[in-house]
Amino acid sequence: MAGTGVFADILDGDAFKYYSDGEWKKSSSGKSVAIVNPTTRKTQYKVQACTQEEVNKVMEIAKTAQKSWAKTPLWKRAELLHKAAAILKEHKAPIAEALVKEIAKPAKDAVTEVVRSGDLISYCAEEGVRILGEGKFLVSDSFPGNERTKYCLTSKIPLGVVLAIPPFNYPVNLAVSKIAPALIAGNSLVLKPPTQGAVSCLHMVHCFHLAGFPKGLISCVTGKGSEIGDFLTMHPGVNCISFTGGDTGIAISKKAGMIPLQMELGGKDACIVLEDADLDLVAANIIKGGFSYSGQRCTAVKVVLVMESVADALVEKVKARVAKLTVGPPEDDSDITPVVSESSANFIEGLVKDAKEKGATFCQPYRREGNLIWPLLLDHVRPDMRIAWEEPFGPVLPVIRISSVEEGIHHCNASNFGLQGCVFTRDINKAILIGDAMETGTVQINSAPARGPDHFPFQGIKDSGIGSQGITNSINMMTKIKSTVINLPAPTYTMG
Ligand code: G3P
Repeated sequence: MAGTGVFADILDGDAFKYYSDGEWKKSSSGKSVAIVNPTTRKTQYKVQACTQEEVNKVMEIAKTAQKSWAKTPLWKRAELLHKAAAILKEHKAPIAEALVKEIAKPAKDAVTEVVRSGDLISYCAEEGVRILGEGKFLVSDSFPGNERTKYCLTSKIPLGVVLAIPPFNYPVNLAVSKIAPALIAGNSLVLKPPTQGAVSCLHMVHCFHLAGFPKGLISCVTGKGSEIGDFLTMHPGVNCISFTGGDTGIAISKKAGMIPLQMELGGKDACIVLEDADLDLVAANIIKGGFSYSGQRCTAVKVVLVMESVADALVEKVKARVAKLTVGPPEDDSDITPVVSESSANFIEGLVKDAKEKGATFCQPYRREGNLIWPLLLDHVRPDMRIAWEEPFGPVLPVIRISSVEEGIHHCNASNFGLQGCVFTRDINKAILIGDAMETGTVQINSAPARGPDHFPFQGIKDSGIGSQGITNSINMMTKIKSTVINLPAPTYTMG
């Protein structure tokens, strides 16, 4: 159970503590922030409402801790990360339970998220040892006008304090995808969890605590965005921000100082279906891609663009599979669970109503109880409907019938987003040509969009973000290059 056993230290009465200087603490504000369970719509947990002074303290400590961490041998950093990964996996049950209660993640998926996170940490430790263990050696005589009188040695050094802000939908996995690269690269880390997902994050942080990381190297502050959000992202002590979430990221990018940013801000991933596609494969991927975790994934299939000649057949196949989806509480491991909040459900409902008024065909009746929305496929969606462009972040999927491939590519590229997309066809040449024409960070051929495996590069263009993630890219992004140039008194040529 959350907050018990090895996690007892992180709970005080009915409120979870925050983590600073290697200790679990109560905020001097005396206030807490309530976390509402999406299923019961009642307060499930409370976390500390940290103050700006507490953020200042955390930043100060993080700066000091980073200096000695940067002097810790790489293999020791990796060893501690492996230890944290093992502890995290060992305690997957209470963390998964928190995911079920605060973000309504289906029970099995919640366990998968924790295990995947442990694997990510371990892989990151190994990758860090490999890529940070080597640098570059350059000689000067490759550039015109130079003799071989200079040797240049480059290595990767840490940035300092990394601020990590994960989203509600993968609070543990998308936190460790920032924490592990930052730490292996010699940075310290300040984590600001999403409100829903905070308790899962606090448990995950305790696993790092139990692994024995130095005091102050990792901190986790919880609280109201209005109080500490901008204060954190604009804090002069922050040397890098890694953020995943909605368009708040655009505001953060505009306000942040001259520091490296890694931003993943959502998508409207298109699924282009050609006449020769394997329609059973497409239908299976539309279900997985559009409806897993009730569509609350940046990489969810968010619009199907299908050639008119196969549209009826595809819609029938998807309808048949939608009918088999189970709908209910996450504890029952239902396929479709309540969306994260009432405001989210209201937003989704607004998109559905707009589509109805403008004449979309409802393949299932629209049904909602509280935050629970039944899966809905909307056929004959047209570009004048909001759902053709906006991301519902819910179990509602529009189908647009297209009369040419160009029309599909045009719709995909007219979006403000450009995270991922997918194309289904048996003709690999066409798939490559279409994929290359799609303005997205990744194109999947004959499969639904997905971020993983976690070592693959992951990036969006346009409003979907800046920078590239994935384990290797994140480690590189959280370092900078340091050069040392050896100037020789005379040209020197090996064995010359
Ligand atoms: O929504 C977060 C995004 O990173 C999706 O990840 O693993 O569901 O493709 P995934």
